[in-house]
Amino acid sequence: MVELPTVSLTPGIEMPQFGLGVWQTPADQTADVVRSAIDAGYRAVDTAAIYGNEDGVGTGLANHPEIFLTTKLWNTDQGYDSTLRAFDLSCEKLQRETLDLYLIHWPAPRLDRYVESWKAMIRLRDEGRIRAIGVSNFTQEHIERVIAETGVVPAVNQIELHPEFQQHALRNFHATKGIHTQSWSPLGQGRTLSSPVIAKIAQKHGKTQAQVIIRWHLQSGLIVIPKSVTPSRIAENIAVFDFALDTDDIAAIATMDRPDGRMGPDPMTADF
Ligand SMILES: NC(=O)c1ccc[n+]([C@@H]2O[C@H](COP(=O)([O-])OP(=O)(O)OC[C@H]3O[C@@H](n4cnc5c(N)ncnc54)[C@H](OP(=O)(O)O)[C@@H]3O)[C@@H](O)[C@H]2O)c1
Repeated sequence: MVELPTVSLTPGIEMPQFGLGVWQTPADQTADVVRSAIDAGYRAVDTAAIYGNEDGVGTGLANHPEIFLTTKLWNTDQGYDSTLRAFDLSCEKLQRETLDLYLIHWPAPRLDRYVESWKAMIRLRDEGRIRAIGVSNFTQEHIERVIAETGVVPAVNQIELHPEFQQHALRNFHATKGIHTQSWSPLGQGRTLSSPVIAKIAQKHGKTQAQVIIRWHLQSGLIVIPKSVTPSRIAENIAVFDFALDTDDIAAIATMDRPDGRMGPDPMTADF
């Protein structure tokens, strides 16, 4: 079984740099999908309350406390007390007393409750219920505000990031604060796979397009969580530790970045 690289979130808390995403994985298939990922060597799973499949993740991970597990607080649960309640419910569904990583899913700036939510997450961390706390879809402004109001820096910001939307400005900001960047929709929801730039690199290395893109995330120092419900693709996506992109490949992928490359919602306006 391949040894997966990890990142240190805080001293003593190592997170696998590669894991399985389960957004849009149907609830009744999730346990099997998670089991096939564990069989293939995966050591981390990323879910969220809103995905509606925490029960399936819990079932799939039963007897696997070693798997690094992330879930996320949904927007309608934002606020101090409601965050504490939502966390308990997620733990119940996931069949865990403690979680490895809990994220605020979206800043939802019009609700303006993310600072209160963050304070509740700090409490849960201090009580030992969560090993590390982070955010998702936060802009620099949102991160600066939670740090200014609590003094606690998120361990991770999980953001949309793929070759067509490389997020250099936010990544540079994260680096100044020691925040780890995690890429969501790392394959551009499957759409980036048809890029001729990626196809050419894949041919050169005798690898698939998905493997080239996942390798690009890993070599860029990003935490990557490709989603698939297909066992052969689940296995394909982790088979990326036997080759390396060279500087020409990295330079070619750099040209794919586009200011309008975003595929998901804009965090400034997304509050669902
Ligand atoms: N924080 C957030 O707001 C947020 C937002 C979006 C996503 N996420 C997280 O990020 C994870 C990944 O993002 P994502 O699900 O949006 O998209 P993604 O991982 O970029 O792409 C998933 C799509 O690519 C296909 N695919 C996967 N591996 C493939 C391969 N080797 N060859 C060909 N096609 C392949 C999948 O198909 P099949 O499944 O049919 O095989 C699926 O249609 C999510 O599952 C979730 O955990 C977080």
